Amino acid sequence: MIRARCEVLSNRRSGAYHSLTLVAPDIAEQAKPGQFVEIGIPEGRSILLRRPFSIHQASRRGGWAGTLEIVFDAVGPGTDWLAGAKPHDMLDVIGPLGRPFSYPAEQTICLLIGGGYGAAPLYFLAEELRARDKLVHMILGARSHDRVFKPIEGKRLVSSLIISTEDGSMGEPGRVTDLMPQLVERTGAQVVYACGPNPMLRAISAFCLERGIPCQVAVEEMMACGLGVCWTCAVPMLAQDGSGWWNVRACVEGPVFNGARIWWDVWLGDEGELGEDEEPFDELDGADEPEVADAWQR
Ligand SMILES: Cc1cc2nc3c(=O)[nH]c(=O)nc-3n(C[C@H](O)[C@H](O)[C@H](O)COP(=O)(O)OP(=O)(O)OC[C@H]3O[C@@H](n4cnc5c(N)ncnc54)[C@H](O)[C@@H]3O)c2cc1C
Ligand code: FES
Repeated sequence: MIRARCEVLSNRRSGAYHSLTLVAPDIAEQAKPGQFVEIGIPEGRSILLRRPFSIHQASRRGGWAGTLEIVFDAVGPGTDWLAGAKPHDMLDVIGPLGRPFSYPAEQTICLLIGGGYGAAPLYFLAEELRARDKLVHMILGARSHDRVFKPIEGKRLVSSLIISTEDGSMGEPGRVTDLMPQLVERTGAQVVYACGPNPMLRAISAFCLERGIPCQVAVEEMMACGLGVCWTCAVPMLAQDGSGWWNVRACVEGPVFNGARIWWDVWLGDEGELGEDEEPFDELDGADEPEVADAWQR
């Protein structure tokens, strides 16, 4: 993990989003798909906490070597400020943080599913998978066409790309999860990687668990420190042998998790479905299990 003062190289609109490129050679050198950076919003403003963003691209060679790109939606004071950052501004950046996606050793047909700006880290992942001779298919979903992230680049990058929008303004009408059954069938997908809104990740994880398809998801949880200290980002994780559950930190043990291991009902707040006094899993003490690197098993 590196802390660096990084120069803004460019800050452009990309549909409904902003795409910020930083000169960050040391972080770019170490970055892996699924990891994130924490950006400090300059002093003198009322925003104390750093803001976390997935790494969209890390360029280590070529004309723009040593750069990092993030993509963000301006949703509040921190991202509004970032949207106004200009070339040559200097930003305080920590990264790369968190556990990255892991690559399947044997399986070769990969389906990548991105919702909104959640698709951003999947481009970096697609490049790394292709460099390892994997076949990559992608589904991009969004509310409307301006929120479909980089469809033209996606088409160039992967073997097949399907787009869906909730309002039907681009591609298939509906949600990405509506398209999953037919796409898994058609592509013969052996593994699934997903990033986007948590309810979407939950539906994808349930589908994959039912079909026995290994699935890695990059989750978003509120983060205060981003460094493993405060536990703001706790996610309930089922033990590998199903004997109970642990809280794990999305910033250190994640943000990439095996979707089958997250206890979604508790995390996203549908405990009611379990029945009033029912708790199917016991909370486990101790710090033994939370490695959470069993990406390809339940
Ligand atoms: C690992 C990780 C990766 C992320 N990657 C991206 C990315 O690539 N692009 C992007 O646009 N956003 C990303 N986010 C979310 C981003 O960090 C928040 O949108 C940002 O911190 C909001 O800051 P703000 O000051 O603009 O707004 P705030 O006023 O702080 O928040 C505005 C809204 O965003 C929600 N929010 C705030 N922080 C988070 C958070 N950590 N996770 C989820 N929702 C949050 C708040 O509940 C509120 O509704 C990521 C979050 C995490 C944890
Ligand atoms: S954000 Fe502080 S422990 Fe994860």
